Amino acid sequence: MNNFFGKSFVSVDQLIISDVNLLFQKAGQMKELAVKSGGDDRLKGKIMAALFYEPSSRTFSSFITSMQRLGGGIIPLNGMGVTSAAKGETPEDTAVVFSSYADIIVIRHNTPGTALLFSRYAKVPVINAGDGTGEHPTQALLDVFTIKNHFPSFAPLTVGLVGDLLNGRTVHSLSKLLAKVGVKKFAFISPAQLRMPQEIVKAVKNAGAVITEQENLSDIIADLDVIYNTRVQKERFTDLEKYEKFKFAYVIDKKLMGKAKKTAVLMHPLPRVGEISPEVDSDPRALYLREQMKNGMYVRMALLDLILRK
Ligand code: NCD
Repeated sequence: MNNFFGKSFVSVDQLIISDVNLLFQKAGQMKELAVKSGGDDRLKGKIMAALFYEPSSRTFSSFITSMQRLGGGIIPLNGMGVTSAAKGETPEDTAVVFSSYADIIVIRHNTPGTALLFSRYAKVPVINAGDGTGEHPTQALLDVFTIKNHFPSFAPLTVGLVGDLLNGRTVHSLSKLLAKVGVKKFAFISPAQLRMPQEIVKAVKNAGAVITEQENLSDIIADLDVIYNTRVQKERFTDLEKYEKFKFAYVIDKKLMGKAKKTAVLMHPLPRVGEISPEVDSDPRALYLREQMKNGMYVRMALLDLILRK
């Protein structure tokens, strides 16, 4: 049963396990297709508008290439400064405008809740590609898909989320989705001022998981199966002195990885701005510059296909 068909996707809260399984099965097929022949024409005649009000490299480009690999067309707006948004057009109106031209809208915005707002006004499905400090549900899907490919099951894993857990939308979506698929143990590692928002902590606990919260990574790294490091989100700070204080709170280097399990994986949604030193990149446990990114494309190809075709 394809629950994605014709619907917007704005939060991981919408997903049930069978949706995740269906999407991952499809993502696996997309990987085979892309490797074998680059893609096909199944979305011919469909158009995707990508409306990115905030900077993006991976999310934007992987949505664009996903649509193109499946034969669809694109309205690629990476930066809305060249559109009527710069004249003051509201997101509500912009949603209606692009619904007249596109069959699906992908939106990134700096205000939490804007993807949901967009979906209420748009006449076509809307995908949330990151709404401020809110959620980044497609990143969570690609991260969980990546983890799934490395471990036989989720239940025994201890997942460590590291960095700016307060402002980082990736870790908000990821922790909720991992709890949903059956991860039982989380370590939330952040400076005291950048702790995970209480509503996320509550949601993860309600899904049956146990959480420890701490500031020190070195003390706990040996217990982690998944080490997920994140950037301190500079653009969310009004006080840049505070940002400077936290920006290098966690720098993962060779020495620290020496304490981690041999079977652990090290992930990062990217961009990194110093949280993982380049000397770690060649460590076989480091997935961020390798499959984690590629999986983003397969997962987004799968999502577009499931939303646009019955
Ligand atoms: C993340 C984002 O935009 O939230 N980037 C991404 O989509 N891979 C992470 C970040 O910017 O720190």
